[in-house]
Amino acid sequence: MNPLELFHFLTNLLRNEAEVIASFFVGVAITLVGAYTLRRWVLPQRDSDTELAKKDVEIHRKDAEIARKDAENAALARKLEAEERQAAELANSIETTRKKHLREKKQLREDIEQLNKQVQESGQNHTEMSSGAEALRAELEAARKALDLYKRKATTVVVSYKKQLAVQTDHVKAIEALEGRIWEAPPRAGATPFQPLEDRQAPIIAVTNLKGGVGMTSLTANLAAVFGQQGKKVLVVDLDHQASLTNLCLPLERIKDLARGDGKLLSNVFKARGDFARVAWNNLTHLDDAGSCLLAASEELADVEEHAKAQWLIQPDAFDMRYLLRSALHDPLIQNRFDMVLLDCPPRWTPASINALAACDFVLIPVLLDRTSAEAVPRLLAWLHSLKAKQVCAEMSILGVVGNRAWRKDKLSTRERGVWKTLRDNCADAWQGPVHLFERFVPTNARFADAADERTFAALDVTLYPIFEELIAEIEQRRAQHDESRGVATVS
Ligand SMILES: Nc1ncnc2c1ncn2[C@@H]1O[C@H](COP(=O)(O)OP(=O)(O)OP(=O)(O)O)[C@@H](O)[C@H]1O
Ligand SMILES: [Mg+2]
Repeated sequence: MNPLELFHFLTNLLRNEAEVIASFFVGVAITLVGAYTLRRWVLPQRDSDTELAKKDVEIHRKDAEIARKDAENAALARKLEAEERQAAELANSIETTRKKHLREKKQLREDIEQLNKQVQESGQNHTEMSSGAEALRAELEAARKALDLYKRKATTVVVSYKKQLAVQTDHVKAIEALEGRIWEAPPRAGATPFQPLEDRQAPIIAVTNLKGGVGMTSLTANLAAVFGQQGKKVLVVDLDHQASLTNLCLPLERIKDLARGDGKLLSNVFKARGDFARVAWNNLTHLDDAGSCLLAASEELADVEEHAKAQWLIQPDAFDMRYLLRSALHDPLIQNRFDMVLLDCPPRWTPASINALAACDFVLIPVLLDRTSAEAVPRLLAWLHSLKAKQVCAEMSILGVVGNRAWRKDKLSTRERGVWKTLRDNCADAWQGPVHLFERFVPTNARFADAADERTFAALDVTLYPIFEELIAEIEQRRAQHDESRGVATVS
C-alpha cells in the first residue's frame, strides 16, 4: 500500500469507526497510567529503603563535605577578605606612594626647571657680566692709555712750564737788576733794526725835555707849520696823552671826532699786534692840503701805552714795545710819504717817549733860560747818554738845545747869559761830548697864546716866521754837519 492508499484508508476509518477508535485510545491511556504508577510508586518502594539509607549516608557525607567546603570557603573568604584588605591597603599605599612619587616628581621637575632657569639666568648673567667685564677692561685700557698720554703731555707741559718759569725767573731777576731803570734793558732779540737815515727820506726829530712847560709842543707845532710853508710834507706825532699838540693842531670839532672812540689815534698803533706802519698810516689826520699830517693823541694813550709796557715787562718773549714807533716810522710806507717827522714828547719817561728816542735820528731840546729849566737839561742828557750806551737808541744824535722865551743871544740878560754859559759846560759833561746850543732863540711872544686859542700857528705870524726860518736853517745846517761828520753830536 502506497502512502496515498494509506491516507484514504485512515480517513475512512476515522469517519466510520470514530467511537471504537476513541475507546481504544482511552483504554490504552489508562493502561499506561496504571503501569507507570505501579512502576513508580509501588515497585520501587522496596528497594528504596536501602537505597535511601545509602542516600542518607551519602547526603550526610555530602553535607559534611559541604560544611567542610563551606568552612573552607568561609576561611578562604576571610583570607580573601584579608588579602583584599591587604591588597586595598597595598593599593592605597601604592596610590599614596604613587601620588607622593608624582608630587616628588613634580616638585623635582619644578626644582629642575627652577634650577635650569637659574642656570640659564646665571648663564645669561655670566654672559652679561663677561661682556660687562670685557667693556670695563676695554674702558680701563683706554683710561690707562689716556692716562699715559696725559702723563706724557703733563710731563711735557711741566717741562715746558719749568723752562718758561726759569726764563721768567731770569727775566724778573734781570728787571730787578735794573733797579727801576727798566728802559735801559738791552733790546730784545727781534727788536726792529734802525734804518740809517741815508736809506730813508724823512729825518725824525724828537722834541723832548724832562722839564715840562718849556715849549716842546709849541716848538714842534710851529716848526711843522714853517716846514710846511717851505713845501715839506711833515708828519707830527703827539706822544703826550695830554694831547696838547693835537689840541693845537686841530679845530675843536675834529678833536671831538677823535674822542668818539673810533678816532684816528696814535694809541691804535700801540694797540696793534703788528704791521705798525699800516696802522699808523690808517690813523693819520690831514693838517693841510700840502700833505702834512698828524698822528693824534688822546687820554686813552696813557692806558694803552702802559698796557703795552706791562706786556713787555711780563712776557720775556713779547715784542720789544720800545721799537714799535721805529717799526712804523722807518717803514717806506711812512718814509716815502713825508719829508720830515717831528715827535712831540711828554716831559717824562713814558713808553711813548722811549719809543720816540728809539725811533728818532735827532733830539731837539727846548729850554727856558731859568735855572730850574737849565738844570733839567744835563739830567736829560745823562739819561740819553745812558740809553744810547745801552744800545736802546744807539743811533740817536743830539741836534741841540734851543733857548725858548728869550729874544736874541745879544739881548740876553746877565742872569740868562750866565745860565746859558753854564748850560754848555753842564751839557757837555752829561753827554760826555759837545752839545750844540742853538744860536737862534725863540722869543717870548703873545702870539703863542693867541694862536693856541685860534688854533693857528704863531710861527706863521709875520714877526715870528723869519725867526723860525732861521731856526730851521740852523737845524738844516746841524743836520748837514751831522751827515758830514756822523758824530759831532754823538757819543764820542
Ligand atoms: N716863546 C713863547 N712865548 C710865549 N709863550 C710861549 C712860548 N713858548 C711856549 N709858550 C707858552 O707856554 C706854554 C707851555 O708851552 P708848551 O705847551 O709848548 O710847553 P711844553 O713843554 O710842551 O709843556 P708840557 O710840559 O705841558 O708838554 C703854552 O701856553 C705856550 O703857549
Ligand atoms: Mg707839550
